[in-house]
Amino acid sequence: MLHPTAQARTSSLRRGYPFAAWSRTSLLVALAACCATASVRAQSLASTDTLTPPSVALYNALGKKEGIRLLMDDLVDRLRADKAIGPLFNNIKPAYLKEQLTDQLCRVSGGPCVYEGEEMKKSHADLKIGTGEFNLLVEILQDSMTARDIPFGVQNRLLARLAPMHREIITASPAANRQGKLLLTGGVSSVDGSAGGGLSPWATIGTYASDQATGISAHATRVTTNDYGLNTYGLTLGIHNQWEVSLARQSFDTGVTGPGLGIPGLQLTQDILGAKWRVAGDAILDSDTWQPQIAVGVQFKNLQSSGLDATLSALGAKKTGTDVYVSATKLLLAQGILINGTLRATNANQNGLLGFGGTLGGARDQYQLMPELSVAWLANRNLAVGMEYRRMPNNLQDPGAAAGLGDGLRAQDWKDIFIAWAPNKTVSATLAYVDLGVIVPATTGNRAQTGAYLSVQLGF
Ligand code: HEM
Repeated sequence: MLHPTAQARTSSLRRGYPFAAWSRTSLLVALAACCATASVRAQSLASTDTLTPPSVALYNALGKKEGIRLLMDDLVDRLRADKAIGPLFNNIKPAYLKEQLTDQLCRVSGGPCVYEGEEMKKSHADLKIGTGEFNLLVEILQDSMTARDIPFGVQNRLLARLAPMHREIITASPAANRQGKLLLTGGVSSVDGSAGGGLSPWATIGTYASDQATGISAHATRVTTNDYGLNTYGLTLGIHNQWEVSLARQSFDTGVTGPGLGIPGLQLTQDILGAKWRVAGDAILDSDTWQPQIAVGVQFKNLQSSGLDATLSALGAKKTGTDVYVSATKLLLAQGILINGTLRATNANQNGLLGFGGTLGGARDQYQLMPELSVAWLANRNLAVGMEYRRMPNNLQDPGAAAGLGDGLRAQDWKDIFIAWAPNKTVSATLAYVDLGVIVPATTGNRAQTGAYLSVQLGF
């Protein structure tokens, strides 16, 4: 707690009131109070030590103190002009705020500055800042840094140093903000409808809706491989950045396999109802710790078409199945890298498009644990490039052999390399090169199903 006289001085600098001359005694008391505050402040700033320790390289890359000063000039002007959070800054003198922010960021980025402003917790206590507002300030800071030609990698290193401060700044239950997450950090709609990469669900909750809001997104995806085509479209609902409900319809053009089975023009339709629950962590806010965002999910799959009924029933495969998965997403903000691991319990053949399990010649319909891995590099605010690997069960190989097809129903793992582009929070597109391994090699001359994946997503 500051001495009243010291408080009056700080207050006068912040608000621009004249301050009274100090007596010798009050100066001593104020000095003592200041040291006490400084030690609290030192503790509070120590909590900004992150996975990326401060280094003078970051301070230099920001243009040293002068570069940071120009950046903060620009930032404060933008903050004050923002419709949503601008009014919060009406009670503080812009020049004072610019100065404090300059010292703060100079110190945080590894520079030789001393921050003498108000403690973070105290200065933000009454502002009712939630995750949506915090992320909005981060986006405005990104705008400022981009305007000042600060490279994206340097931007992320600074954001990684600032991220831990959210624990002192986010004090209120957040306001409903439908666009409160950072671009591309929620992932895109995967082929099963859940938010994630193209092939694998992540722990991220779909849409940009932050903690108190609900958002919806729609996606349409086309996959074309050497012998097959797959269309998927669906809706994803993100609720309070905690729950996700998704509905997807897949339509699979069986290509050469239809005539091979004596059913030319065979289309397979599968509906997938997904639900996901974020159980721990926040990919962005916890980017300074090793805590990943963790979610559990379920996908109910129902193969609609009847064209393959006789074949599936001969192989002993079912037409409905349920996948259960757990995903962990870790954002390494300073490096601009996102890693997701998913472990899926499933008995789906080719994701369910060729039914579930297969008992001909022995029981092969037990659930198996299949790992999936995605790695994405955020090349800039609007662009992510990455790769995915999804292990697939191979349930139909033995029933296929028992039916006299040798290994003609063998399945292999799925992989892709993707580029996701989000010019804004309303629209995004993902382009990928996929390798789905062999799919019914008996009818495709053992060809691997490689090809293109294009997905477009609209979010509201
Ligand atoms: C890591 C992120 C942030 C940092 C480093 C930061 C830093 C600072 C600093 C150094 C001050 C001046 C303290 C003083 O009075 O001496 C300040 C004040 C302020 N900050 Fe932040 N801040 C952050 C996030 C936010 C966010 C997310 C908001 C709102 C969306 C916000 C709104 C304000 C406002 C309105 C004030 C002035 C409060 C008053 O009227 O006294 N800040 N901040």
